[in-house]
Amino acid sequence: MQVLVIGGGGREHTIVWKLSQSPKVEKLYAIPGGPGMKDLAECVSLDTADLEGLARWAEDHHIDLTVVGPEAPLVAGIVDVFKAHGLNIFGPTARAAEIEGSKIFSKELMEKYGIPTAFFKVCENAADAKAYIREKGAPIVIKADGLAAGKGVVVAMTEKEALDAVDEMMGHHKFGAAGNKVVIEEFMDGEECSLLCFTDGRTVVPMLPAQDHKRVDDGDQGPNTGGMGAYAPAPVMTDALKEKTMETIVRPVLAALAKEGRPYSGCIYAGLMIKGDSVKVVEFNARFGDPETQAVLPLLDSDLAEIMYACATGTLREDMVKWNPGVAVCVVMASGGYPLSYPKGIQITGLQEASALPGVIVFHAGTKEVDGQIVTNGGRVLGVTAIDKDIARAKERAYGAVSRIHFEGAHYRQDIAWRALKRLK
Ligand code: AMP
Ligand code: GLY
Repeated sequence: MQVLVIGGGGREHTIVWKLSQSPKVEKLYAIPGGPGMKDLAECVSLDTADLEGLARWAEDHHIDLTVVGPEAPLVAGIVDVFKAHGLNIFGPTARAAEIEGSKIFSKELMEKYGIPTAFFKVCENAADAKAYIREKGAPIVIKADGLAAGKGVVVAMTEKEALDAVDEMMGHHKFGAAGNKVVIEEFMDGEECSLLCFTDGRTVVPMLPAQDHKRVDDGDQGPNTGGMGAYAPAPVMTDALKEKTMETIVRPVLAALAKEGRPYSGCIYAGLMIKGDSVKVVEFNARFGDPETQAVLPLLDSDLAEIMYACATGTLREDMVKWNPGVAVCVVMASGGYPLSYPKGIQITGLQEASALPGVIVFHAGTKEVDGQIVTNGGRVLGVTAIDKDIARAKERAYGAVSRIHFEGAHYRQDIAWRALKRLK
């Protein structure tokens, strides 16, 4: 197979890395790709917003399967365009991807089909939003309706924070049109877990449960980010809870989407809040998680190309998805200042030394090659993943690798996997 991966971040590096191990894959391309992938895939610089242009390129290059990493092209309809050209593609159509593209659509769908989630209200102007916040009080959660790169959510612990968030989203248009409407949501207490599943529209197979670390600083302090680290499998998701999640959340949402004329295939990501034996949806994403993927796919024993091709062609079987024992921990190394403003173009050293360590894979999230040197080129710069037989060892191995890598201002959390470790005490 000739396989094309769309995207250039840490998640896509991980997907490319795993696909490159498949005996079925003869040639891999990535658009735009990045320096971390260039030994595994031919990176092609094309505009990922030009969907017709991408489809024509895929036809010209006899691509047998395209895999889409980020949400933006999915929501924009890349799958629809490729299908119209008769191309196989892994991911949901634009109408199905609305489960991520619009928080309002997603919440209303869950409400209609009785899928457990926080109660909510949609507000179309700041005055309504503020009145509702004053009525409910804090803690309370404010979410921009549209896509905001995982940063359009404010978990407000005080009423003032909540009111300020409304001003930022609806008054100062911090997220542009994505904040024209907001969802105000009940604060859910508990422990979060990400359950990503493969689906071809009929069969759905869960991956290993993972846990992200959304806040920028240790102890889950500071603002929300795209994710500062992850590990899998996450012990908060017991087998019984996983079964419950599949029966009360994942299967029902796929059935609901199908019933609404929006059949879903690709990877569905359920972001969950777990408390005791209750599981509720925080959000759905229409794609792989980043950095969850960097912890989950390294533990996949099966052939990812075979699974993805089966998802794209309606031939997925449960026995296609097998996992290795062991645990993976991914520590994100970010630019100083992230998630606010940060510098770019800072030289990174120690990458080869870290990658040479046993059980370690260094995934590039935001890097660039300049005159043969790898430099920083994003907020999240690297995802350093380590595999070992238990969580404590995997964590130690990951931080051992992190300590070999240097760039000025590098910021990373020291406590990735703390919840899993706390359970062992
Ligand atoms: P989202 O983009 O919807 O996943 O929200 C980003 C993060 O905000 C989540 O991963 C949670 O940590 C937090 N969050 C979102 N909604 C809620 C909620 N209703 N209660 C508590 N925390 C939430
Ligand atoms: N790690 C969170 C996300 O991918 O949305």
